[in-house]
Amino acid sequence: MVEITWLGHGAFQFRLESGEVIVMDPWIEGNPMYPKGHTFSRVDAILITHGHYDHIHDAVPLAKRFSPKVVAIYETCDWLGKKGVGNLMPMNKGGTQRVGPLTLTMTHAVHSCGILDDGKIIYGGEAAGYVLRFEGRNSVYFSGDTNVFADMELIRELYHPELAFLPVGGLFTMGPKEAAMASRLLRPKKLIPMHFGTFPDLAGRPEQIESADTEVWTLEPGQAVEW
Ligand code: NI
Ligand code: MN
Repeated sequence: MVEITWLGHGAFQFRLESGEVIVMDPWIEGNPMYPKGHTFSRVDAILITHGHYDHIHDAVPLAKRFSPKVVAIYETCDWLGKKGVGNLMPMNKGGTQRVGPLTLTMTHAVHSCGILDDGKIIYGGEAAGYVLRFEGRNSVYFSGDTNVFADMELIRELYHPELAFLPVGGLFTMGPKEAAMASRLLRPKKLIPMHFGTFPDLAGRPEQIESADTEVWTLEPGQAVEW
């Protein structure tokens, strides 16, 4: 069993039965959808898909507070290291590594990855996604910010994800039409929509995803669900 909590926007918390907490793309301060009352008691790993502020904003403070392992693409890890983050586990697309109880593979994403730092945009490598494997479970695809791309079919052939986290809000990522195509390419049992409703411009909604074979599993920010 894995407990999944949506922290609003592109941020999620996974809590394993063994107690470990894994945080995806932490954005707390300034996140309009961050659930009131949510606090962290431990963080064992932080996984970052790309360097945009709405995915990385709280990686540095959380890393300094809990000293978790921190995974990101090589250039973003370099930037995090310069900000004083330790326990970095840089990687790149196609690579696989073990992070505590989790095995993860970095995948492609169709998006940008500049890091806004003191008014300048710094090269952060490329935007990426992850395939996560929790022990004894089928794999999970966490796309990060991306448009749909045909190589999602390779992700299905290689990893057969049971669960896919996909953005649906549009404007900065794919919207519902593209998410429906992504689910046809990936064929997960369930699709967890993210990156919508945070701002009025992220107008795509889960109920607009027309996908016959995949269940759209829409979470409420702050409400823990079991998978
Ligand atoms: Ni982004
Ligand atoms: Mn984003």
